[in-house]
Amino acid sequence: MVIPVKTDTRDYDIILESGALAKVGSLLNLNRKVLVVTDDGVPAGYSETVEKACKEAVKVVIPQGEGSKNMDSFKALLSAMLGADFTRADCVVAVGGGVVGDLSAFAAACYMRGIEFYNIPTTLLSQVDSSVGGKAAVDFEGVKNIVGAFWQPSRVIIDPDTLKTLDERQINAGLCEAVKMAATCDGELFEFIEKSENLAADLPEIIRRALLIKRDVVEKDTREQGLRKVLNFGHTVGHAVESAEGGTLLHGECVGVGMLVMSEGEARERIEKVLEKYNLPTRINQTADELMPYIVHDKKGSSGGVTAVRVSEIGKFEFVKMTNGEIKELLVKNI
Ligand code: GLY
Repeated sequence: MVIPVKTDTRDYDIILESGALAKVGSLLNLNRKVLVVTDDGVPAGYSETVEKACKEAVKVVIPQGEGSKNMDSFKALLSAMLGADFTRADCVVAVGGGVVGDLSAFAAACYMRGIEFYNIPTTLLSQVDSSVGGKAAVDFEGVKNIVGAFWQPSRVIIDPDTLKTLDERQINAGLCEAVKMAATCDGELFEFIEKSENLAADLPEIIRRALLIKRDVVEKDTREQGLRKVLNFGHTVGHAVESAEGGTLLHGECVGVGMLVMSEGEARERIEKVLEKYNLPTRINQTADELMPYIVHDKKGSSGGVTAVRVSEIGKFEFVKMTNGEIKELLVKNI
């Protein structure tokens, strides 16, 4: 299926289809120089399929993991393009998860003040969330996503078959971003995830419904002036947990813990049960005092506080301005 996305800077299509990767040559304009970016945890066959479809491919393989989302990798991508004499008519294709996508998009946004970017997300997390909406960034001096831009892809190719090579932990962590969208915006999707008895079979439907939510949010508020902040549900605390854990927990796993902190009542109980059902952590090793310095440095913080997304009823959300002190109180109560 094709999901059209309209943003203030670019309109593009998400192609969601099993087997789409094999048809990449007919879905993207690869008849030029193409920087193909992937990581060493992504099956090499995926990026090779893309390379074979390109007129002239230059490939960069970064080490798997959040540690690669940095200035050194960013520089490596720019050097590869400059070294191969890329012009403004050439393009970048990301083949991988959120780190590969965000980093590649940022390099595409900056090279010659912006060249075309395509995203082929191959993890559940990137398929349901990060591949759509144009967030491009690297981490810097220990702060996640602090240097970046909005740079929309020209097309996103989502092939659910690529998830077959993903291990269960990665799938479950990626599912957290769909749980986030369901918990805040779509009670029926939440129930679908709650009741699923065969996650692998249900994933294409979960991806489709999460993408529709993501598309609607991004179309209304591309640059995160208001509504798009809903997609940060669980992320203020989640990012802090991720930094404090020093890479032992996956992004989605940390977001799950963050959602618990920011929800209450029956909604909290249902989120906790879903996390448990998919073997996701509901407790962490850090204390509130250990997490607070990371929260204070999070980019969404301003004038001593954040706009937190709170959920007290599944499918609905509230934006609440919270001081750092109020967040600390919630942490003390909920972790
Ligand atoms: N992943 C959150 C957003 O795209 O805004």
